[in-house]
Amino acid sequence: MGKKKTTFVCQNCGNQSAKWLGKCPQCSAWNSFVEEIVSISSSNAHSDHPLRTTKKAKILSEVQPLTQKRLIFNDPELNRVLGGGAIPGSLILFGGEPGIGKSTLMLQLAISNPQFKVLYVSGEESDEQIKTRADRINNITSENIFILTETDTTIIRKTAENINPDILIIDSIQTLHSDKLDSAPGTVSQIRECTFEILAFSKSLSLPTFIIGHINKEGSLAGPKVLEHMVDTVLQFEGDRNHFYRIVRSIKNRFGSTNELGIYEMLESGLQPVIDPSKILISAREEHLSGIAITANLEGVRPLMIETQALVSRAAYGTPQRSATGFDARRMNMLLAVLEKKCGFKVGLEDVFLNITGGIKIEDPASDLAVLAAIVSSREDISISSKVCFAGEVGLSGEIRPVQKISARITEAEKLGFEKIYVSHYNDFSALNSAHSIALFKAKKIEEVFRDLFA
Ligand code: TYD
Ligand code: MG
Repeated sequence: MGKKKTTFVCQNCGNQSAKWLGKCPQCSAWNSFVEEIVSISSSNAHSDHPLRTTKKAKILSEVQPLTQKRLIFNDPELNRVLGGGAIPGSLILFGGEPGIGKSTLMLQLAISNPQFKVLYVSGEESDEQIKTRADRINNITSENIFILTETDTTIIRKTAENINPDILIIDSIQTLHSDKLDSAPGTVSQIRECTFEILAFSKSLSLPTFIIGHINKEGSLAGPKVLEHMVDTVLQFEGDRNHFYRIVRSIKNRFGSTNELGIYEMLESGLQPVIDPSKILISAREEHLSGIAITANLEGVRPLMIETQALVSRAAYGTPQRSATGFDARRMNMLLAVLEKKCGFKVGLEDVFLNITGGIKIEDPASDLAVLAAIVSSREDISISSKVCFAGEVGLSGEIRPVQKISARITEAEKLGFEKIYVSHYNDFSALNSAHSIALFKAKKIEEVFRDLFA
């Protein structure tokens, strides 16, 4: 090992500086610089990087396309988010908050695919803990799984070369360390170096590799923003630990679309793929409950019917409370302002609580209309029929704006037995099958919708 040298590294974006800085000039994070020891020898550490071996420029049309076959798993949701299975030699980063089920899903992948030899490397749990977890997941049990509790990248590489698995799983990148660097595991330099080493040998062994990465409080992959650039695919596990449903979203995919989405349910016996997710986010209810409206959303490319719930009540204390779970609070405030100004509902002195069922977060602007309908329904204490749903973005002047893929939403709503859907008058309905039986209420302004619902 060469002469020791230290450098300050931003733990947020990996920017380096010779001296400590209070604010990172690159990503503007405060107090993110940590002193790390870097040995000089690491400067040529990547000489074995597989992508460095190509020396001559080639003519693109002469390059042979990837003909490797994808590995298809016994998990339709995972195959879908990966773009139809995993490409050999690809690096897949799997991020999520602690306790959301990353280790469970990866172990399940290993157990339920006996056709593949899997090397599961854990730097977080002991062999016995992994065994206990595996016993909870009573799927098909594969005899083809090798467990390695190790954090040293050299040993991991040697083991992978000996065992020659079909799939490698690393749980988690934050626990690994490379002896090329002296800094502690979990620091940006270590994470970057370890990922480079894994990248090198997984490409040379044509091994699809899943790397688990923890997410910090702000919701980004802890420390290693840098990691996202290095890997082929970034999958993110979303959901609320206290709810059953989990969503796996693809944020980056060099081998597929990022519009895909996988939905799971966390049961006693592990994560169960949800094959027909449309209905799950709607709770069974009595017809007469007020404050509930269903939105025909689009999550990724899949239409999903999601229930929005609102509670409006007279503020008990001076300042009214506003709170939104699963929905952007600023957007809710904007919608409330539109309601007050354009429809004359005085909500300024009332508490407003909004909740999206199932613990999921929605971002589709088409949910605006359902959110407003739920709020007005709660305020007026008039229930909305459970056979009715909504899909429309609401603008600042109270106009209902068109949303994308309206025909997919309408078709899904009809399939699930909805009888009426409120949409924008300005949508392009040309792609819609004219034989639909669901009633369309095409409105230009939100007042028209409220008059139809509550008058
Ligand atoms: P885990 O996979 O350990 O999360 P992560 O690796 O993302 O930190 O999942 C932990 C949670 O999942 C834990 O709180 C218990 C729950 N769980 C179940 O509900 N059912 C199961 O079969 C298993 C294995 C875990
Ligand atoms: Mg874990």
